[in-house]
Amino acid sequence: MKRNNLKKDKELFKSIKKERKRREETLEMIPSENHTSPAVLEAMSTILTDKYAEGYPKKRYYGGNEYIDEVELLAQKRAQKLFSVPFANVQPYSGSPANMAVYLACMEPGDKVLGMNLKDGGHLTHGWKVSFSGIYYESAFYGVNQETERIDLEEVEKIAQKEKPKLIWVGGSAYPRQFDWKGFSKIADRVDAFLAADIAHIAGLIVAEVHDSPVEYADIITTTTHKTLRGPRGGMVMVTDKGLRRDSDLQKKINKAVFPGLQGGPHEHQIAAKAVCFKEALEDDFKDYGKKVVKNNKKLAEELKKRDFRLITGGSDNHLSLIDLRNKKMGGKEAESLLEKAGITINKNAIPNDPAPPADPSGIRLGTPAITTRGMKSKEMIEIARVIDEVITAKEVKKARKDIEKIARRFPLPYDF
Ligand SMILES: Cc1ncc(COP(=O)(O)O)c(C=O)c1O
Repeated sequence: MKRNNLKKDKELFKSIKKERKRREETLEMIPSENHTSPAVLEAMSTILTDKYAEGYPKKRYYGGNEYIDEVELLAQKRAQKLFSVPFANVQPYSGSPANMAVYLACMEPGDKVLGMNLKDGGHLTHGWKVSFSGIYYESAFYGVNQETERIDLEEVEKIAQKEKPKLIWVGGSAYPRQFDWKGFSKIADRVDAFLAADIAHIAGLIVAEVHDSPVEYADIITTTTHKTLRGPRGGMVMVTDKGLRRDSDLQKKINKAVFPGLQGGPHEHQIAAKAVCFKEALEDDFKDYGKKVVKNNKKLAEELKKRDFRLITGGSDNHLSLIDLRNKKMGGKEAESLLEKAGITINKNAIPNDPAPPADPSGIRLGTPAITTRGMKSKEMIEIARVIDEVITAKEVKKARKDIEKIARRFPLPYDF
């Protein structure tokens, strides 16, 4: 894209160009980020951004939506096909608003939600006190077993029986293993709670069939569209057949919760970009991409273990690893900063039972979705693990930066801007 008009805004364009250069020279290894395709980017900058379309296809509160309806219906249809669900609301602006809609549809203020503890890898919107979900709803939490560092379903069952939540969340932001949807579903059924699967991180892996799908077991599925799914920044709520059996009005309730409950006019340019993303994810080579993300992450994990890095749970089944840095005598904050200087973008992260404060936790979280999009493979994972080790163990940054830039330049970004 030439972007000649945007170039006229020199002040802004300079920052965007610098961000472009940063990406060219460095590696994006935050597991919740990716590089979108040129088609997704183009959809995001279409004229669809101008249109008000409050409501839903064929039932809008504004005129002139004949073609906007086509776009939104296409996005819905592709989402339903991609995840094999009977219903998808593609309007949520992002993952947190998608999750909010679930509360508004299924709960009254003050009702109880059970989610995974943020400190053990859950998400803020699953009941954490500082989020709307912990402010307006009662919350209870399950965590991971201290020894295995994995979710212990017996423990979840005990907590669910005691707390009797109306909604149970399964899914998280920093859990390196598969979720046992079936096990959670049994628990939710026994306490008569809605089961919501938040697949924000792993949606692309589910599509690629390298992570089990919750579609048979959850009532509701929420996701972001910008992580492993590789679409525009956005969110979505789906209802499954199981959910409709639990409450035949569930799809109506979700729609009402998104609009008018939470949002005004949907961002139709973003919905168009979601439609592009779903089409790309329906293609065979997306399966190949998802497989490579996991293969790369496993290789990276293996190489880091060889260099005496302690991986939470001993390894990873998915796109991310959580690393305990205590044996390396370095906090997560310093590691994040040094690695950034070396050209590897990761984030500091709490580890289960972290004795350190959230501002400087004992761990880091890193993953392979974006570097796999650039085409990197096992050979690069070996090189990256070596550089990470040099940075953390020897605090060697200058040479590391050169090495990383060399790797990054071998793999151009997928877009031309
Ligand atoms: C599991 C999970 N759910 C929901 C969200 C929220 O998404 P967003 O940041 O788009 O609001 C995230 C984002 O990190 C997430 O990891």
